[in-house]
Amino acid sequence: VASVLIIGAGNMGGALAKGLCSSPESFEVTMTDTHPNRLQNLKNSLKVKVVQSDVAISSLDYDALILCVKPQDLAGVGETIAGKINKSCIVTSILAGVTLDSIAANLKFRGAVVRAMPNICATVGEAATAMCGNDKLEEGGRDLVGKIFSGIGEAVWIKESLLDAVTGLSGSGPAYLYMIIEAMTEGGVKMGIPHKIASQLAVQTVLGSAKLVKETGLHPAVLRDQVTTPGGTTIHAIQELEERGLRAMLMRAVQIATERSANLRKE
Ligand SMILES: NC(=O)c1ccc[n+]([C@@H]2O[C@H](COP(=O)([O-])OP(=O)(O)OC[C@H]3O[C@@H](n4cnc5c(N)ncnc54)[C@H](OP(=O)(O)O)[C@@H]3O)[C@@H](O)[C@H]2O)c1
Repeated sequence: VASVLIIGAGNMGGALAKGLCSSPESFEVTMTDTHPNRLQNLKNSLKVKVVQSDVAISSLDYDALILCVKPQDLAGVGETIAGKINKSCIVTSILAGVTLDSIAANLKFRGAVVRAMPNICATVGEAATAMCGNDKLEEGGRDLVGKIFSGIGEAVWIKESLLDAVTGLSGSGPAYLYMIIEAMTEGGVKMGIPHKIASQLAVQTVLGSAKLVKETGLHPAVLRDQVTTPGGTTIHAIQELEERGLRAMLMRAVQIATERSANLRKE
């Protein structure tokens, strides 16, 4: 049984706790936060231990620690726990834009550090998470962190220099898809479908299409070809999307969000 301390019981910390508690792997989860009521709510609904974040901590002894506070609160967490973390602990952070070196420095920690970038879909157990580790991370630690993030969706390893691109693709990506769902719904409404039904159809179309790509492993272009009848409705719509640059627009969106992520770190 791996022991895990989650610091910060907000949206992401709560989602991770839920994922760990329902994982087939066994985890002993402890949570800490500045809000006692958030901890109490989690304790009421999940099998987790809770500790108040303001209690004096003399030492920490966990297999993994996951930082789920806002980036601006990292220094505050550092003040409480720096120098008190057991050497064998895998320190993991989901703080957007905060580098491996910065996490290690703030916590005065010389051991294995992992940076993970999940997305908001973690709250429904369908996150897309990319992770990277420092040179102290060994195979056992990689396995443990991989299992933790697999509990809230799909998790992949990547080099740290690509995390801005991950932010531009899967971090901000849900917003792009919400716009597509909204626009398809309105297209349906324009053509006379009641809003509620149009929304239901648009959402399920996006969900089912993603599932089909994932389950068949086929290239999306192959699947698109399969639904495109010569002279039919779909090919007419595809020409419109191509002429108006849908694909180029989405490629540029990922690029611009990636550049913004890199700039935010420098600012
Ligand atoms: N939401 C996303 O889609 C997403 C995706 C990828 C990465 N992230 C990253 O995930 C992190 C958490 O995001 P979130 O949306 O879950 O934030 P959140 O809901 O605000 O949760 C953070 C929690 O940590 C608490 N906290 C602050 N300082 C603390 C301390 N010293 N000790 C213990 N707890 C403390 C906060 O309390 P207070 O309210 O009192 O400050 C709050 O309850 C962020 O760094 C973000 O960059 C988020």
